[in-house]
Amino acid sequence: MANTRFEDNQDDDVEEIGGSKPPYQTPKGVHDILPQDHDYHTFIKKVVRHRCRQAGFRRITTPIFEFTDVFARSIGATSDIVSKEMYTFKDRKGRSLTLKPESTAGVVRAYIQNGMNQWPQPLELYYIEPHFRYDRPQKGRYRQFWQFGFEVIGESDPALDAQVIFLSNKILDDLGIAQLFSLQLNSIGCLVCRPAYIQILKDFYFGKERSLCADCKYRLEKNPLRLLDCKEEDCQILAQIAPKLKDYLCEECKQYDNDVKEFLTELKIEFVENTSLVRGLDYYTKTVFEFWDKTNGAQNAIGGGGRYDGLIELMGGQPTPACGFAAGMERIIANMKREKIRVPQKDDLHVFVAQLGQESKKKCLPLIAELRDNGIKTMGALGKGSIKVQLRLADKFKVPYTVIIGLTEVREGTAIIRDMKVGTQKTVAFEDVVEEIIKLIGEENRDMYTPGEIVY
Ligand code: HAM
Repeated sequence: MANTRFEDNQDDDVEEIGGSKPPYQTPKGVHDILPQDHDYHTFIKKVVRHRCRQAGFRRITTPIFEFTDVFARSIGATSDIVSKEMYTFKDRKGRSLTLKPESTAGVVRAYIQNGMNQWPQPLELYYIEPHFRYDRPQKGRYRQFWQFGFEVIGESDPALDAQVIFLSNKILDDLGIAQLFSLQLNSIGCLVCRPAYIQILKDFYFGKERSLCADCKYRLEKNPLRLLDCKEEDCQILAQIAPKLKDYLCEECKQYDNDVKEFLTELKIEFVENTSLVRGLDYYTKTVFEFWDKTNGAQNAIGGGGRYDGLIELMGGQPTPACGFAAGMERIIANMKREKIRVPQKDDLHVFVAQLGQESKKKCLPLIAELRDNGIKTMGALGKGSIKVQLRLADKFKVPYTVIIGLTEVREGTAIIRDMKVGTQKTVAFEDVVEEIIKLIGEENRDMYTPGEIVY
C-alpha cells in the first residue's frame, strides 16, 4: 500500500512545555479542556441542543468504541480514516475494537440494532461527542476532538438535504462565525451513474500516473473519486481538467441536485458549486457539502456532510435513505476566538465567606449552604488562615463581596458584609445576610438550580 501510516517519533509524542517536560503529559494531539474553554463548549452545546430540539431532533450517544468492522465497512477500507487514522486495539478475547473516528457509522449501527425503522420516520438524531483519529497533529487537527452532528434517517427528499444544510448554517450563525465560511456543494451521484463515471475518470488518468503523488497512485487503483480532492499541486492541476461527475449524473441525480439548489436559494443560503468536492468518507451518495474557511479553502473545513442512501443497507438494514452533517468543535472555538467572540461566563463567584475559629465555622457552614440554595455562588474559606489571609484569598478569587464572621459577630449574632471593590463594610443581623446579598448582587444575577421537577 503506497499510503502508509506515518511513523511517530517517540520523543515527539509528548508536548514540551516551556522547555522542560513535567513527568506526565497528555499524548501528542490530545488536550485538556480547561475551564475557560469549557465556557465555549457549554455555549456551543446550548446552541446545538436548542436548534436541534426546535427542529424535532432527539439526542443519541453511541459508545466510544465499536467493533472495528462497523467503521471499516461504512467509512470504507480504503479511506484515509480507516487505512491510517483509527485507534484500533484488541480486547482480552482478541476481538478488534476501534475508538470512534466519527459518529455516522455508530448511529447507523444503532438504528438497525434498535429497530428504529419502526419509529416515526424520518428519524432525526443529534450528538455531541468526542472522536478519535490518528491524524497528524497540527492547528485544528487533533487526535481527540469533539464534533456535534445530526442525522436525518428514513426519507429521501432534496428538501431534507436543504434543511440539514440550513440547520448547520443556522448553528454557525448563532455562534457568530457563519460569515467566515463558504458553503461548498456538489453531487457525487448514485450507484447507478457513479460506476460509469469512475471508469471515465480512470481512463482519463491512464498514462498520467507518473504525475500523481504516491497517495493518488494508490487512490487511482482503490478509490479513484478521491483523486479529485488531493491537496498536492500537480494532482490538483490534473483534477481540474479531469472529466466532471456533474456531466455524467443520471437524470434522477441531476434533478435531485437541481432541487437541492433551488431549495437552498429559497432559504437564502449562498453556496459555491464545487465539482471537486467528494468528501473523505465512502458512504456518500448524491449531495455532499462542506463549510470552507473563506481565507484557507479546504484546509480545516469547519464541518461537512451529505446524503448516504446506501449505508443502512450496506450495514445490514433495510434499504433506507439518510443524510447528515458534523462539525468540529475545536475549530469552531478557534474561529470564535479569532472573531473575538466572548461567551457568557457563569463561573464567577458572588460571595466569599471568611471565618475565624471553631464557633464561627459552625455558623458559616449552614450559611454557605443557604446562600448557595438561594442562587448565590459562594466560596467558603474553611481553613485555618487569619482573616487577613482569607481576605487576600477573596481578592484573588475576584469576588465582589465577602461575608466575615469572627468571634465578635458570633457572640452578637451578626455578620460583616464587605464590598471588595470599594473596601467599605457594614454589619447586618446574621439572619439578614442572604437577603442583603441578594439585594447587592441583584435578583436577576442569581444562579438558581432549576433542573425541572422529578415525578415519582
Ligand atoms: P468529517 O468531515 O470527517 O465528517 O468531519 C466533520 C468535521 O469534524 C470536520 O469538518 C472537522 O471540523 C472536524 N474534524 C475532523 N477531523 C478532525 C481532527 N482530527 N481534529 C479536529 N477536528 C476534526 C464526518 O465525520 C461525517 N460523519 C459527517 C457526517 C454526518 N456526514 C453525514 N452525517
